[in-house]
Parts: sequence; C-alpha cells; structure tokens
Amino acid sequence: MSKAQDARLREIMASFVRHMHEFAREVRLTEDEFEFGVDFLNRIGQATNDAHNEGILFSDSIGFSTLVCLLNNGGHGATETAAALLGPFWRMHSPVTQNGGSIVRSETPGAALFIECRITDPDGVPLAGVEVDVWQASPVGLYENQDPMQTDMNLRGKFTSDTDGRIWFRSVKPAGYPVPTDGPVGDLLRAQMRHPYRPAHLHFLCFKPGFKTLITQVFVDDDEHLESDVVFGVTRHLVGDFRQGTGTPPADDVTGPWFKLNYTFVMEEGEAKLPIPPIR
Ligand code: BEZ
Ligand code: FE
Repeated sequence: MSKAQDARLREIMASFVRHMHEFAREVRLTEDEFEFGVDFLNRIGQATNDAHNEGILFSDSIGFSTLVCLLNNGGHGATETAAALLGPFWRMHSPVTQNGGSIVRSETPGAALFIECRITDPDGVPLAGVEVDVWQASPVGLYENQDPMQTDMNLRGKFTSDTDGRIWFRSVKPAGYPVPTDGPVGDLLRAQMRHPYRPAHLHFLCFKPGFKTLITQVFVDDDEHLESDVVFGVTRHLVGDFRQGTGTPPADDVTGPWFKLNYTFVMEEGEAKLPIPPIR
C-alpha cells in the first residue's frame, strides 16, 4: 500500500487488514466458516436493490452504524448527542409541507399525533430556515414504500423552521416494527436468537448551511422495545414525551385518543451535507 496516494486510504486499509487478521486468529476461523462468511457478504449485496439496502441493515444490526454516529456527533463523541442512525428508509424529495400541515397523505388509521419541534444552536438560540425532513412508519409498523395500502410519500414531509426555530405538523402515532428479516440479516438475527423489533419512532433530518446535518430519531416513550432496539438506536436523550391529549383536540376531525409531542433539537456547528439516500 505504500504507493497509494491517499494517506487516509492507507490508514484505513492498514488498520482494517490488521484487525481482520487478528479477528481470524482470535476465533481460529475455519475454512468452512470463511466460506460461509464470504457467502454471507455476497448475499448482502444480492439482497440490495433500489428499494432495499441490506448493507446498511447489517451494519445497523451489529451496532456499527450507531457507533459511527456517536463517534462523529456530540463534539466528535465527547458529549451526549441528539444524533442517531439514518436507517435504510430515508428518501430524497419528501413533499414540501407547510407548518400546520399533515403528513398523512392517504387513509392511515391510528391515533392522531400533533408534533411541535424547536431547533436551536448549542446556546439555545432558535434557528430559522432549517429544512427538516420527517419520515415514519404507520401505526401498523410499515413505511409507505413497504406497504401497498399507503400512497407514495405517505408519512413523509419536508418542513422549514420559522423565525422562532419551530416546525409543527400533524401525523399519526407510529408503531414499532420488525426490520426486514427475509434476507441474510434475518438469518443472522434468528441464529443469534435476537428479536427483530425497533421501538416506535419518528425520523428527522435537519439541514441548514453552517450546521452539521442532524440526523436523528425520537422514540415513543411507552414502547416495550426501548431497551432492546435491534439496531441500538435508542439513547435516553431521544425518548420523546408523547402526552395523551385532553380537552378539545387541535382539529375537528379527531375522534379517538390523540397525542402531542414537543421536542427540541440542538444542531452543532459544522458542515451541512446530505447522506447518500439508502433507497430511491
Ligand atoms: C429505521 O428506523 O428506519 C431502521 C433503522 C435500521 C434498520 C431498519 C430500519
Ligand atoms: Fe425507522
């Protein structure tokens, strides 16, 4: 590698090779296990397409995505952070939606949820003009691209924070869901005797030039899988306060129970960069 031009490539590959060799020595990897491992990697590639990213799912399921997230946020891992893993379901070009609007775009049974978020800098100063992408699973635990009953882009939207750094919108209370288990990652989870569930959550991606793009999730506080998220995404900081509403609901058409979520995101200074969308 000494001739490679890119110093960072040399550093990463030298370390990677060292750790791979050390790993094989530590577990005394057999030839059969080696073949099995290569086949597993190949199957990850074969299971990946425009609508599904098994590579990210594998990284998520072994806690690697969360580790990389925590190493790169919160003052490069020094402090608590509001960031969490992206996951495989973010899509570019979510429908631009006005504050006060709804991201329920086709009939979606479930409890109404009214969300208000504030976005501030580390000193608590409100940030106006932050573009906030939101995406979530439905109350049956499916993203729109997994569910023929939902219209394209249902439960996805893009908002812009007002002069007080606020966005607000209507949705439905999400449910937890199993990650896709019909590929090699599912085989691995079964072999490990692990359940495949994520606790219910909403995803947020906050983008504003001059600030590090904040990718995160807010979790529903009564979910039974908060302590055992299959992809290790939950931190105490990210558990939201989902209050059941009392009195007159904020909209006339709300019939059953409804909920409110208020949450504040703190963006760090840094580079505003969008991730590569895992799916189209
Ligand atoms: C998600 O939250 O969308 C997700 C994250 C990791 C794996 C699967 C789904
Ligand atoms: Fe999710």
